[in-house]
Amino acid sequence: MSTLVIVGSQWGDEGKGKVTDMLAEGADMVVRYQGGNNAGHTVVVDGQEFKLHLIPSGILYPDTISVIAGGVVVDPSVLLEEIAGLNARNVETAGLRISQNAHVIMPYHKLLDALEEETRGDGKIGTTCRGIGPAYVDKVHRCGIRISDLLNSKTFKARLTTVLQDKNRVLQRIYNHEPLSFDDIYDSYSQLADRLRHYVTDTTQLVSEANKAGKNILFEGAQGTLLDIDQGTYPFVTSSHPIAGGACLGTGIGPTDIDRVIGITKAYTTRVGEGPFPVELKDTVGDRLRDAGHEYGTTTGRPRRCGWVDAVMLRYAAAVNGLSSLAVTKMDVLTGLDEIKICTAYKYRDTIIDKFPERTDVLAECEPIYEVLQGWQEDITGAVTAEELPQAARLYVARLEELSGVPASMISVGPARAQTIVNKHLLSPFHA
Ligand code: IMP
Repeated sequence: MSTLVIVGSQWGDEGKGKVTDMLAEGADMVVRYQGGNNAGHTVVVDGQEFKLHLIPSGILYPDTISVIAGGVVVDPSVLLEEIAGLNARNVETAGLRISQNAHVIMPYHKLLDALEEETRGDGKIGTTCRGIGPAYVDKVHRCGIRISDLLNSKTFKARLTTVLQDKNRVLQRIYNHEPLSFDDIYDSYSQLADRLRHYVTDTTQLVSEANKAGKNILFEGAQGTLLDIDQGTYPFVTSSHPIAGGACLGTGIGPTDIDRVIGITKAYTTRVGEGPFPVELKDTVGDRLRDAGHEYGTTTGRPRRCGWVDAVMLRYAAAVNGLSSLAVTKMDVLTGLDEIKICTAYKYRDTIIDKFPERTDVLAECEPIYEVLQGWQEDITGAVTAEELPQAARLYVARLEELSGVPASMISVGPARAQTIVNKHLLSPFHA
């Protein structure tokens, strides 16, 4: 038996979908522990591309239980659309389980997300406008509506009555917006809840029992370490806990029950939305990375900001997640560059720092100090062992391992499952 957490070690979009999908093959259960449909995973199976936002990639394996745990915020209509989309392509969703405790993204959350962003002006966060932040705000404010509340008409009516009065006051008085109709929300969400009812269960118990029974459980984080509400570049973060500790908070698994943590690390760095990004390239190299890596948001379609890999940030991600190994993704995107840079330290005013600063305003003033490595020109998309990689590519990965202090268990050289160099020893039993 084994438990494994998959986290993004940068700002999200590291290619977690493919890695999760590959490791899901050896898992009995795949559990999504935080975030909502702000995430987007692209998985390519047998040449078919699947875009998943809420449902764990484990759904593509019929014998795997896929859990949306209590730490996730669920937009019921998006979830139902995703289920319908999978079913239309003959993917069974009978193995899906949804936590009773997951909070529901309501229409006012989406509306407020957009209105709040608008009023932030220059200080905007660049949210996905999916209602994620406002839904987590209500959870912490203890006025959220949970899946179990939706399923009980009396509770739903009572909670919605109170909350909507409050939200409508804010919408009308602060944003000069029309009030939302109780009946419309109540009726539509009750219908959606009915369609989800048979997937809903006590997932804390489900995960705990699977753990006790010695099952292989994979915990799938969305977004990335630097978007964590506590450990990320606040306030330019999401409102949940993408770091490995989030797996405990969002599912009820104890910290000592986690065996390993894999940090998915793109061979370069991207960021969507606002906030400091020391290694950002606003030149033709950045454009080249964006084009070659198809760096446009899966959820919003926004062009991603691109830059070199940042080893200062990687060391930080290794520490806050307790990373056991790295999965280096999109190595093939770097092919053809004469030289490749790695940021090894920052210049902050007159000092050189090699630790990731806790303060976002300090990070905003940091300038990257680069080490330059030689690039490679050979096509690496067919490499199945590390020995088949050109020497420059091997040296690049070795340097990432050295600078982060974490060994690489996977190197991804293309979008398909087969295009992955795997160190089985570091991944067993999830990868035999
Ligand atoms: P929110 O999660 O929609 O509130 O957005 C907060 C910040 O997190 C914004 O900068 C988003 O662009 C970013 N973000 C949210 N989800 C993802 C993701 O899946 N990948 C990358 N960035 C994300």
